[in-house]
Parts: sequence; structure tokens; C-alpha cells
Amino acid sequence: MFMKKIIEELLEKVRNTNIQTAEELEAFRTEFLSKKGKLNELFEEFKNIPKEAKKEVGQILNVLKNEVNSKYEEHKKKFQSVNTKNENIDLTCPPYPVQLGSRHPISIVKNEIVEIFERIGFVVSEGPEIEDDWHVFTALNFPFDHPARDMQDTFFIRRNPDILLRTHTSSVQIREMEKNKPPLRIIMPGRVYRNEAISARAHCFFHQIEGLYIDKKVSFADLKQTLFYFAQQMFGENTNIRLRPSYFPFTEPSAEMDISCNLCGGTGCAFCKYTGWVEILGCGMVDPNVLENCNISSKEYSGFAFGLGIERIANLKYRVNDIRLFSENDIRFLKQFTSAL
Ligand code: DAH
Repeated sequence: MFMKKIIEELLEKVRNTNIQTAEELEAFRTEFLSKKGKLNELFEEFKNIPKEAKKEVGQILNVLKNEVNSKYEEHKKKFQSVNTKNENIDLTCPPYPVQLGSRHPISIVKNEIVEIFERIGFVVSEGPEIEDDWHVFTALNFPFDHPARDMQDTFFIRRNPDILLRTHTSSVQIREMEKNKPPLRIIMPGRVYRNEAISARAHCFFHQIEGLYIDKKVSFADLKQTLFYFAQQMFGENTNIRLRPSYFPFTEPSAEMDISCNLCGGTGCAFCKYTGWVEILGCGMVDPNVLENCNISSKEYSGFAFGLGIERIANLKYRVNDIRLFSENDIRFLKQFTSAL
């Protein structure tokens, strides 16, 4: 019988309908239970079928009606979490105030550093956080057995050790030198990753700013004067600097720069471990091998580079003694920082 067949098909459909959202439930209700829905339509038609078929068709029609209703009720409960007690909600009530956000201290310090270098002609550039071995290590003159390449320090993306999370922003130097011809004067902020145990002093991700200046006849004196200018702009006119010899594969000679402790003014305190100095960055003259790796003639050009940790500068500026605070997003911490930048 024709009507019975339609009902059976609908019953099958109802049993197979998978309702997962409130919208799907509403679509189900419209299809079956609304005024012009299938159930009403069928009951309307039911009036017109021959008497002798009424019993059989009526029975299955009732099964359909019950299943539709119970399926609807069952899902309705699921999506009805709010206001189940049927309370009267006062929709004119003002909402709780939304707290106004503030700029993140890392962004404040980053913007400040970038601004200082922009004033002397540096331009900003950024590179990818997912990098390859060439840009993070090989082109930067890291020997193949250098410990920084170790699994202990570097996060590799796949089993393929060629794809990794950059461990420093020095990789952006390479990308820039591959793309552009000197003169280059760039400042490169970004996030970096290292496989470190998280503690008050170390994190598995942090932020760096890289600087690079390549031109004809760039000297160590240019490096020193640029960084001295930066230190005074950042930490005040009375700030002194000192450069200590160091080693990085991508610079020769290399140095680490200290500033006079801005807490005690250089006389010695617990913060600077009574030395009067605190370390803030690594720097040096770009190694000729690095220039040649990027097809820049090391006979014609020279340059300097430097890299600093933004968290470290922020610690100095704001005296934050636990680096984890920067990534916990605790509003009580974040709202203490204000900036014009
Ligand atoms: N890439 C170094 C690091 O992550 C920092 C650094 C040192 C960058 C010396 C430089 C540089 O450009 O010249 O520890």
C-alpha cells in the first residue's frame, strides 16, 4: 500500500538522522513537527484512506509519531543547558564589564627596540618559524657536529631532520642576504624555539631580535657605536657598555655585550651579582663564509650582526624574575604594563 510505504521510508529516515547541533535539531523539527511538517501532512492524508486499511496504516503512523517526538525531546534536553528552570531573564540588565586589554610586555619591548633601530635607518623584516637546516645552521657556518644542532636543543618537525623550528632569528639574516643585494640594514624580530626544560629562567619558546648591517667598509667601530647608541636609548644616557670576546660560528670576531647594571648604576648589587655589569646580547662581524654562502662577495662587502633576547631586556626593564609569566596570560600580570607604542 502506497501510504504505508511512505511512512516506512520516513521511519527509516528518522532512525538514521544524526542530530549534532541545535541547528540540525531545528531542521528536524521543521521537517516533521511543524504545522506544515510531514506528520501533520500524513495525519491529514490518513483521513482519506479506505476504512479497511486504517488499522494497519494507523498503527505504523503512530509508531512514526512516537519516534519523532521522543527523538526530538531527547535532543532538545541536550541543547537546553541555559535557563532550564524557566527563570525570567532580565534582558535589559547591563552585562559584566569587559576588561580592556593592554599591550603584552614582550610587544611593548619589541616595539621599543625596533623603533630605536628604525631611527638610524634599519628596516624590519620577518622570516618563518618553521625552517630548514640550511637557514638555521649550515649557511650560518655551523660545523656539522656543532652541539646546537643536537636533538637536545632543537625541535625537529618531522623525522626528516632537515625541517625544524628555528632556534634563533639569525636564520632571517640568511633569507635576507639571499634575496637582497647590499647595502642591507635590517632588524628582525621573532619567536624562537629550543628544547629546554621550562623553569623561571628558561622556556621552550622565547623571542629574539636580530640585527644585520652589510655594506662596503663596515667596521667593528660601527658595530660598537650602533650598540652603544641602542643601549643609551633603551636604558638611559648614563648607560655604559663593554664588549667581551666570545664565539659564534657566524661571526668573526664575536663578542658579548654587557651594559652597566641599571639597578645599582654599576656599583654592584645582587641583581648584577656584584659585578656592576649585565649581559644583554651577542654580536660580531659577519663571517666571510656566511656572506659567500649567500652569494655576497666578502672581498667587496663586510658587515656586523647582533642578536638579543626580548624576554631578557623585558626582565631588565621591568624586573620580572620568572620568564614563565610572559606566556601564562594571567591578566593580573599583563595589566601592569602600559605603553605608548
Ligand atoms: N643567534 C645567537 C643566539 O641565539 C645570538 C647572536 C649572536 C646573533 C651573535 C647574532 C650574533 O647575529 O652576531 O644565541
